Amino acid sequence: MSQRIEGFSKLTKTEKIDWITQTHFKNPEKAKALLTQYWNSDTALQNRHDEFIENTLSNFYISLGVAPNFLINGALYTLPMVTEESSVVAAASNAAKFWLSRGGFQTQIINTFKVGQIHFLFEGDPQVLNAFFEKNKAALLESTLAFAQNMKARGGGIQSIALRDKTALMPHYYQLHLHFKTADAMGANFINSCLETIATEMEQLAEKEFKSKELEVVMSILSNYVPDCLVRAAVQCPVSELSPEKGWTGEAFANKIVEAVTIAKKEPYRAVTHNKGIMNGVDALILATGNDFRAVEAGVHAYAAKEGQYTSLSEAWIKEGLFHMELTLPLALGTVGGLTKLHPMVQWNLELLGNPSAEKLMQLCAAAGLAQNFAALRSLVTSGIQKGHMKMHLLNILNQLGATANQKEAALDYFKKHTVSVQAVGAFLKNKNT
Ligand code: MEV
Repeated sequence: MSQRIEGFSKLTKTEKIDWITQTHFKNPEKAKALLTQYWNSDTALQNRHDEFIENTLSNFYISLGVAPNFLINGALYTLPMVTEESSVVAAASNAAKFWLSRGGFQTQIINTFKVGQIHFLFEGDPQVLNAFFEKNKAALLESTLAFAQNMKARGGGIQSIALRDKTALMPHYYQLHLHFKTADAMGANFINSCLETIATEMEQLAEKEFKSKELEVVMSILSNYVPDCLVRAAVQCPVSELSPEKGWTGEAFANKIVEAVTIAKKEPYRAVTHNKGIMNGVDALILATGNDFRAVEAGVHAYAAKEGQYTSLSEAWIKEGLFHMELTLPLALGTVGGLTKLHPMVQWNLELLGNPSAEKLMQLCAAAGLAQNFAALRSLVTSGIQKGHMKMHLLNILNQLGATANQKEAALDYFKKHTVSVQAVGAFLKNKNT
């Protein structure tokens, strides 16, 4: 049971650790030692990490791996992937290698509009509000000029502003719905600053115009639903070249993949897991590049349900002897701003990718998502998912069971030919000890 504490955030880091470990742990000294073991010995670097969030106590590692051999629009990439799931990097690498000799991934940006909204209530005549909006539209936009210049110079800024009547959803509810371009920034701060400035200006103009307080802003915030910030990745090859492993013809395999995607298109339970597999690849790259995976997840799943039923984000079909697979994702990403200059590992990962623009990063993420989807379906429709998954999980099991370096080596060899399970690994280790 936790205890109540006042002013926790005002305590020093040491005081916070003392309070936490003494209040919540059976062995406070041991708990404290683990926290400090995970600190970086470089004080400046540790301070940097401490300041990213409030109440930092230590660091929490998640592995950074790389998936090489991604051929994307004719150029080769090694993708950095941050993930806790043991089979993700191996799956991406396998799919990248598979498509390397079959033309690689083709990607394209469809659009890069981001969205921000000012939600407000207006109690008067809708036509009067319309006239007020048309009269003041230019002034509302001009109110952002002081800080929007920089973004404009980089090719971004507000692209459109529209008044939307939402009174069918809630009495007196209207929106200003804005489209933005934010160049290589994810743009959350820019968008929210524009919205709050415009909202204040609108309230002030309304006060003069309507005298009584007929117009009231509820909130101003970007939307993480970005159906006009879209990227597409595709692979294709002759069906005859698709054979994944011994015993499979390309045709049988292609048909199975198409059937698996069709099931995910039509059946929400399957679609959610299918899309989760896609996001295994996307999120790993999003995390590695310091982007906001919660924003991406929320937007992607909303997009998957845009027709009213949750469905697969990818498509697969066979036409004139060619197998096609395609993935379209809404991704609002940044390669400048945010953590990109502050987190040394994010900088390292961006350099590994050749310091991509935001558009290029969208394309790399879409390719990673499609690779992951293909790898998952390939396992699912052939050997089943557990074979590869448990192989990758073997080291986790061995570590969990306290295996020595020698035992691990022997187990890795033995389980090349035997089925991995916690029980089987336990029995193997017991056998080795006796
Ligand atoms: C596991 O993390 C992801 C899969 O379940 C995806 C899928 O089922 O398509 C293997």
